[in-house]
Amino acid sequence: SPSTPPNLPQTFALIKPDAMIPAIIEGILDEIRLKRFTIVKKKKVWMTPEIVEEFYKEHANQPFFKSLVTYFTSGPCLAMVLAKENAVKEWRQLIGPANSKQAKEEAPRSLRAHFGTDNRINAVFGSDSQESANREIEIFFGPESKVLEMPIDENELS
Ligand code: TYD
Ligand code: MG
Repeated sequence: SPSTPPNLPQTFALIKPDAMIPAIIEGILDEIRLKRFTIVKKKKVWMTPEIVEEFYKEHANQPFFKSLVTYFTSGPCLAMVLAKENAVKEWRQLIGPANSKQAKEEAPRSLRAHFGTDNRINAVFGSDSQESANREIEIFFGPESKVLEMPIDENELS
């Protein structure tokens, strides 16, 4: 689109089902804009177990994987492509550690500290490398994407 910044690295971000509440979505989007990320693409999605398996294939054999599937399929998510210099690292820094309880101690200004609950229900996702980001952007926004898209009710977004 014309508003896409040229030649800026991109990362993949998700607002997870627990954070899909208008005031929380607004809080997260405000922080994204304040930190000068550009939202290149956004799409409301409802993940199926198959998509969660593809998305989190590195965790498929973990004991917590089943609960991860239950969590991710419990409601819609907001998927986004974010652009900024050092997008992957900057977004990981802004979201904070995976465990929101730990985030409240170690990174009190992070999104997971503000909006997450525990070591699973943690409000937001961020790619851990550029390779992961490219793969995840393809899963959600690529021409072959099998992700179920839902209409965005503009009242739930600022
Ligand atoms: P991980 O990739 O380690 O964290 P991050 O989200 O920061 O990349 O783990 C993926 C998700 O799995 C994490 O956001 C929360 C969940 N999770 C659990 O539910 N239980 C666990 O014991 C761990 C380590 C993670
Ligand atoms: Mg991870």
